[in-house]
Amino acid sequence: MEFKIKTGEPARQKTPCLVLGVFEKRKLTGPAEQVDSASDGRLSELLKKGDLEGEAGRTLMLYDLPGVAAERILLVGCGKKKDYNRATYRKAVAAAVALLQQTRAGEATLALHAPLPDKTDLYLALRDAVVTAEDRVYRYTRTKEDKQAPKAPLTRLTLWLPRKQDQETAERALAHGTAMAAGIALAKELGNLPGNICTPTYLAETATGLGERFDALEVEVLDEDAMAELKMGALLSVARGSRQPAKLILMHYRGGKPEARPIVLVGKGLTFDAGGISLKPAAEMDEMKYDMCGGASVIGALLAACELGLPVNLIGVVPASENLPDGAANKPGDIVTSMSGQTIEILNTDAEGRLILCDALTYSKRFDPALVIDLATLTGACVVALGKHTAGLFTPDDALATEIMRAGEQAGDRAWRMPLWDDYQAQIDTNFADMANTGGRDAGAITAACFLSRYTKDYRWAHLDIAGVAWVSGKEKGATGRPVALVTQLLLERCGLV
Ligand code: BES
Ligand code: MN
Ligand code: ZN
Repeated sequence: MEFKIKTGEPARQKTPCLVLGVFEKRKLTGPAEQVDSASDGRLSELLKKGDLEGEAGRTLMLYDLPGVAAERILLVGCGKKKDYNRATYRKAVAAAVALLQQTRAGEATLALHAPLPDKTDLYLALRDAVVTAEDRVYRYTRTKEDKQAPKAPLTRLTLWLPRKQDQETAERALAHGTAMAAGIALAKELGNLPGNICTPTYLAETATGLGERFDALEVEVLDEDAMAELKMGALLSVARGSRQPAKLILMHYRGGKPEARPIVLVGKGLTFDAGGISLKPAAEMDEMKYDMCGGASVIGALLAACELGLPVNLIGVVPASENLPDGAANKPGDIVTSMSGQTIEILNTDAEGRLILCDALTYSKRFDPALVIDLATLTGACVVALGKHTAGLFTPDDALATEIMRAGEQAGDRAWRMPLWDDYQAQIDTNFADMANTGGRDAGAITAACFLSRYTKDYRWAHLDIAGVAWVSGKEKGATGRPVALVTQLLLERCGLV
């Protein structure tokens, strides 16, 4: 979709559709009021018929309003005026875009950000509009004919700007939003692809393709032989149960000074997790195609960085494998040696994410990173603890925790800190190896993070358990692209661009 910015009187906007907000009890927003007076009170008159009260997300399309240049007026409910926040605003934008997709308008002018929602500024509001709109128009079509494809898809969205002097802010919001949205869309698409298409090799090819598209991005893919040479015994033990060769995808984005220490993003790229010999139950097992969403988000965040040309050095590390039952697969009780030299007793082969991540985390040391963040659909326990609304954040570093939580808040892509105290470490002690790969039922998300913490002592590190947020289940099943927005926000902040 194309985005534009335009100032000027709302009533004079020549557009197939002008989108205006209405608060509850039919209270007009500023731009709607202007249109109302331009039409001699026609707008409020029509509202008196009672077809739209202003409940968040409700819509009403009007045609042929006198004194108004727009062909259509789309009224969107924005809820109670005093409760107007980012969530209701996003809901209103999403509702408008969804409705526009059903019309022949094809383009529209959006004026839902006046007044600004609570705790937000013009930059965030406009960026939100871009990200939300792109999120709504995304459709999965790779393996299914899109029978409900819009007849006249929304191809251009103009963001109405109340004051000309905000032009620069608006342009920045638009550029940032577009790049974020591109990263999110890529992460969603990779997540939604089935395990038999989106294999480790496919993930690697996708990354390689990006490397060809952007000069600042160099992509390198290590095969199993190279990983064996590096003694990545934990990662390779998971891959042994699969006929798909594992890959270690390395994406080097060089946007900063050559000597600047890089930020390293590590993403779990488990393209299908059947659990291995500790086989998962059949119900909803299809959703384990989403077990590579951490890796997809790393690839998406790198795309966003490339599109923005961020002045930072960034490295994406995606260990990619399947986890399947097989004669060569890990067995409960097996002991493997990780690249770090630490031995691991595999008590449950379904706790494979930490096995592929620990070697990727050890490998990351060689980059002398300023910071390492890993993204992983790591534990069902995290979903039990936090639900599907927020990612679990684990780090021993208080300043980093604050920084990441803040970025999540700003991006509308939240993370919530969980404890990583030493008290929990004993749960993964075992008589037979340096550690076990599970710590029992209690605090499963925390003991998984404890496991990773044993491989990340040499640098600043945070772990995001995205098992709850990476996709939604049910009728609307699909990947969300989270936490690409959070990560991109963090990068923008580190670059001093927001
Ligand atoms: N990929 C799963 C985690 C997962 C499960 C994410 C359900 C989202 C929804 C991970 O590999 C896994 O299986 N974890 C186990 C760990 C356990 C065996 C210690 C889990 O969470 O059950
Ligand atoms: Mn598993
Ligand atoms: Zn898994």
